Amino acid sequence: MAGIPETGTEAREDSERKHMILSASILSADFGNLQRDIELLNNSSVDWIHVDVMDGVFVPNISYGFPVMKILQEKAHKPLDAHLMIIDPDRYVQRFAESGANILTVHYEACSHLHRTIQYIKANNMKAGVSVNPHTPVSVLYDILEDVDLILIMSVNPGFAAQKFIKRTYHKISQLKEHLVKHDLKTIIQVDGGVNLENAPELIRLGCDSLVAGNSIFNSSDPIETIRQFKSLN
Ligand code: DX5
Ligand code: ZN
Repeated sequence: MAGIPETGTEAREDSERKHMILSASILSADFGNLQRDIELLNNSSVDWIHVDVMDGVFVPNISYGFPVMKILQEKAHKPLDAHLMIIDPDRYVQRFAESGANILTVHYEACSHLHRTIQYIKANNMKAGVSVNPHTPVSVLYDILEDVDLILIMSVNPGFAAQKFIKRTYHKISQLKEHLVKHDLKTIIQVDGGVNLENAPELIRLGCDSLVAGNSIFNSSDPIETIRQFKSLN
């Protein structure tokens, strides 16, 4: 399987796999100054922009949707990594493609026909991601891994920024990594929730290819420097 684009055009082949992909979650951005925060990310070494979309049904919170995607599509110079925490995401796959999403991640727990959803995302020229909640074992994904570009392991219960990292996640990463290596699969492992400069080295060591960070970037005293420190962990 071809790798995921690290920037707009580069392919990320396994032989070149040296750098962790850092995806900055704009859920923790200052929405009164969204353009400023997008420009901050544009001028940083962050790889992707993580866009958390919540429907108030699948998760107990509502975030934002297409108006914010439109701003990002216009202003962001980094690939858009959309994380849909919504029930029955098939309804919106095409609109996310039109809104500039490069990677579209749906939840295992929110899809009745996940295999079909994955094909639909790829037919709309996006990379397909699947996320599992903390209570869901990664083994439920083994029969679809060949078709999936990215597995997003939630290390908090989705719905809110700045929660505490759930330590059981380390075990899930190791388990999934071992399975991917054994079956020679190139699926990217991404972890999301409570990621910071303290736990990132262990996450990378266990085999995470991509880390999502919101609070630890935007609520640090110098977000650009924090991004630089994350990237220097590679
Ligand atoms: C949680 C979201 C995460 C969140 C990460 O539902 O999916 O992407 O924004 O934020 P931090 O890094 O603050 O835990
Ligand atoms: Zn997320």
